[in-house]
Amino acid sequence: MVCLGNICRSPLAEGIMKSKIVQARLNWQVDSAGTNGYHVGEAPHGLSQKVALMHGIDISKQRARNINGNDFDEFDIIYAMAEDVTDEIKWRTGKKFNAAKVKLLMNEVYPGRNMDVPDPWYGAEPGYHKVFDMIDKACDKIIEHYALPTK
Ligand code: 4NP
Repeated sequence: MVCLGNICRSPLAEGIMKSKIVQARLNWQVDSAGTNGYHVGEAPHGLSQKVALMHGIDISKQRARNINGNDFDEFDIIYAMAEDVTDEIKWRTGKKFNAAKVKLLMNEVYPGRNMDVPDPWYGAEPGYHKVFDMIDKACDKIIEHYALPTK
């Protein structure tokens, strides 16, 4: 799960996806990262933490990191929160960039629409609730699309 700062959107996506994975008893690995490096080592934004906790998800232990080329070896799918993030991933990972692995998160809900999860960084709490709801829907779809039936 990748956004620009790895403090607002992608920590929510990591927390939401992990919580659904536990509920669905899947053994998927999920992580999040950013592309701009300004907040490396920091905990998620206070409002992301607050909104997650209102849904019973504790993301306080996460720490921001940058995406790197090895993530293309580690993970099957790299979800970008927005189109500008995809461009930044490409720029940051150079030869390791694999377009086939990079998907826009909201295309899981609205295929082909290339909708961005809006950056809530400059706004107030309602923006974080909106982002939570969008990501939550997308994570449900990821499980629907990729989890194999148990029987
Ligand atoms: P995020 O939001 O990409 O959802 O974590 C941002 C956080 C910080 C900055 C940009 C976006 N920044 O430029 O510091």
